[in-house]
Amino acid sequence: MQYRSFGKLAWQPSALGFGCMRLPTIEGDAARIDKPRATKMLRYAIDHGVNYLDTAWPYHRQASEPFIGEVLQAGYREKVKLATKLPSWLIKEPSDFDRYLDQQLERLQTDHIDFYLLHALQEDWWHKLRDMNIFAPAERALADGRIRHLGFSFHDEFKVFQEIVDGYDNWDFCQIQYNYMDVDYQAGRRGLHYAAERGLAVVIMEGLRGGSLAQNPPPAPIAQLWAESERDWKPAEWGLQWLWDQPEVSLVLSGMSTLQHVEENVTSAGRSSTGALTDEELALVKRVHKVFRQLAPIPCTNCQYCLPCPNGVNIPRVFAIYNEAQMYQDLAGARNAYQWLPKENRAHNCVECGECEPKCPQQIEIIEWLKKADALLSA
Ligand SMILES: NC(=O)c1ccc[n+]([C@@H]2O[C@H](COP(=O)([O-])OP(=O)(O)OC[C@H]3O[C@@H](n4cnc5c(N)ncnc54)[C@H](OP(=O)(O)O)[C@@H]3O)[C@@H](O)[C@H]2O)c1
Repeated sequence: MQYRSFGKLAWQPSALGFGCMRLPTIEGDAARIDKPRATKMLRYAIDHGVNYLDTAWPYHRQASEPFIGEVLQAGYREKVKLATKLPSWLIKEPSDFDRYLDQQLERLQTDHIDFYLLHALQEDWWHKLRDMNIFAPAERALADGRIRHLGFSFHDEFKVFQEIVDGYDNWDFCQIQYNYMDVDYQAGRRGLHYAAERGLAVVIMEGLRGGSLAQNPPPAPIAQLWAESERDWKPAEWGLQWLWDQPEVSLVLSGMSTLQHVEENVTSAGRSSTGALTDEELALVKRVHKVFRQLAPIPCTNCQYCLPCPNGVNIPRVFAIYNEAQMYQDLAGARNAYQWLPKENRAHNCVECGECEPKCPQQIEIIEWLKKADALLSA
């Protein structure tokens, strides 16, 4: 295993962290973790040097935390740093902080959480937590040792990320979605650098875009590109090594769902380092990015000239989800993403008023594509 630096802390994380959100389950039921298999995977990872586990209140319909508590018995708790998260969307008043944290400590069978995050901050939840001064109970928990470090995970635009980083002086770390397709999405590369320059450790989630970048074999034009390299890396390893190449990345979480994923990713992490990819290899990854984009059927560039839609449809977001279904051949993932889009922003709200189409610089037939997208994604 390779170890890296973690912001301003003296501690060194393993290059690979274990994301406990996609553990193997029984009969596809997220709430029923296949405990023997998952235990084997987690203990294999820890026995091979992984020292950071990431879970959260809602993962596996709240079964992840209690299960991780069980796995970390028999001496395993002492071998890892444990991260879990305050469910931001459920917090109504400052006293909720202790209510959730104390239950999480019980579920996890531990007296402290090493890394505690405000979960999935986006603008509204950030403002709610900031305005109720959630930092007061958080600082009490830091002082009495129930949590050791405070951070946040993030899903919104860069300007919100900046506001959060600058909005509190004592963040130790943050967690962002980042991979070679999402360089300019959400916090993106700008966010990675912004946080790292201010001394925050940056934990990466969705490094393989939830598995979209790990398909083996990938779509034919992508497979052709990878074959140009002399490296015998599988697509998953390309995605991970591209992240580890960057010194601002503190550690990469992977939500591994089989023992084979764990074995492969542990091996990849063992041969990772910063600055390892050549200029040609970095250029190859950029070409892969570009060709993935070309697989998108709707030529939307997210310029947002079509907005606001008088009926509330988030046209660029609907198109992005539709495109992703095709680019990554992942209809289930796209349908899931569509469910996360607020109902009032979905394509079925289009009344064909046509206000958007003349504004589109790409001359996209927006009305027709919205119909197609809704039919596919809401099925
Ligand atoms: N805080 C937040 O808001 C938030 C949001 C998302 C995630 N997270 C955390 O971040 C963690 C990482 O994100 P993620 O789970 O989306 O990670 P990811 O690494 O982008 O995706 C994990 C998926 O990639 C595939 N995979 C991994 N290793 C592979 C390999 N060697 N070969 C082939 N496929 C491989 C698997 O897909 P298949 O199972 O389809 O084979 C696996 O389920 C999560 O587990 C969770 O702990 C946090």
